[in-house]
Amino acid sequence: MKVKAINGFKDILPDEVTRWQYIENLSRDIFHRFGFKEIRLPIMEETGLFARSIGQATDIVEKEMYTFVDKGITLRPEATASLLRAFIEHGIHVQQPVNRLYTIGPMFRHERPQKGRYRQFHQISAEVIGAVEPQVDAEVMAMGQLLLMEMGLEASLEVNSLGCLECRPPYREKIVNFLENLSEQLCSDCQRRTHTNPLRVLDCKNPRCRELVQDAPSILDSLCSGCSEHFTQVQASLDLLGVQYSVNKFMVRGLDYYTRTTFEFIAHNLGAQSAVGAGGRYDGLIEDLGGPKLPGIGFAMGIERLVLLMLERSDDDLGLQQKTDVFVAALGEEAASHSALLVHTLRKSGIKAAMDYSGRSLKAQMKQAGRLNSRYTLIIGENELEQNTAVLRNMENQNQQNFTLEDGPASWGNSLKLIIENSVSA
Ligand code: HAM
Repeated sequence: MKVKAINGFKDILPDEVTRWQYIENLSRDIFHRFGFKEIRLPIMEETGLFARSIGQATDIVEKEMYTFVDKGITLRPEATASLLRAFIEHGIHVQQPVNRLYTIGPMFRHERPQKGRYRQFHQISAEVIGAVEPQVDAEVMAMGQLLLMEMGLEASLEVNSLGCLECRPPYREKIVNFLENLSEQLCSDCQRRTHTNPLRVLDCKNPRCRELVQDAPSILDSLCSGCSEHFTQVQASLDLLGVQYSVNKFMVRGLDYYTRTTFEFIAHNLGAQSAVGAGGRYDGLIEDLGGPKLPGIGFAMGIERLVLLMLERSDDDLGLQQKTDVFVAALGEEAASHSALLVHTLRKSGIKAAMDYSGRSLKAQMKQAGRLNSRYTLIIGENELEQNTAVLRNMENQNQQNFTLEDGPASWGNSLKLIIENSVSA
């Protein structure tokens, strides 16, 4: 029987992993620049946490969660709920009023797999908890945009406001009235959503529904004065920071916890799954989950989608070519055992060294050095060994020099480092 990975779950192979590491390292670097600290969370939570935060009537909770029904636990479909659970459980707010946290890891949603959409996928999430100021909304979006820019990726930022508990219910009523008048013409999903989650109809992907909702009332015309003022200031702060964006009055998110600012980073060359990142404010959520009355805002980016966008850039361009500093080619048994000590000694002094134990010909070993992108090859044969030397060949220009083994292991690492450094600066 041939065992394969299950549908929607995918292996990330070594050549691709370098890109994942690049994305994760750059994200960490940027988050640290913005004062964020990492938090690591379990991948399972009590099912009720997601129903209470993401919302009972959302697609995620209604049909996409991987739940162990008998145990009452679920593989997390996103990180915000888990992060807030941990935040509340450990009283993190007691230490300081505003906390900036990020987390990176796998999420699970039982969606129909397609390009850019998987059942196990990975998110980079960042959350600011405790700050209500619109400048923070702009700062968080600016950080997301900087992340994409430093990765060399193009995505546009779309922004909206979903109002608050005061102004959203009357707006919801307006939308329901509007949709009820269209009822028969909407797709069957939207007919159902008209009463369960009417705002979702606004971003239905069905072209007919899209056309029909063009004249729907806009939430932006229904915002209360507090939300309207907040949204105006968010835009002014984005302008101040030089962040390019557009307002998308039909953007509604697939999670119920949002209040006020919501945003998405849209990449135009990703096909149907165009949102590379998304987020927003969730001012009532921490209290709803039994925590202190604190506001929050954050976003998540999908690593798989970032990797897809990055396919246009070569490994060289990204500085991802994995190189070996030196490949030690040993000829003969004695040279081979000497080489094992040499390689280990070089590795201990921080040099990327490799060798081959199979006793193959010099030609075969040089080929192997080439496959490993080795910058140097150190050739040790019986003759060299007798004279306590090795031949060091620069694989780029084929220049050769003698490398002395006379002074013993303690000096090998340093001598080789000197040669490598000089050749880099030359
Ligand atoms: P989300 O919009 O559900 O938001 O997901 C954020 C990002 O995760 C998406 O833009 C996409 O890049 C990626 N993503 C989502 N589902 C999949 C999938 N099935 N396959 C591949 N990638 C996917 C959230 O999850 C919120 N927790 C974001 C947030 C943080 N809001 C506030 N703070």
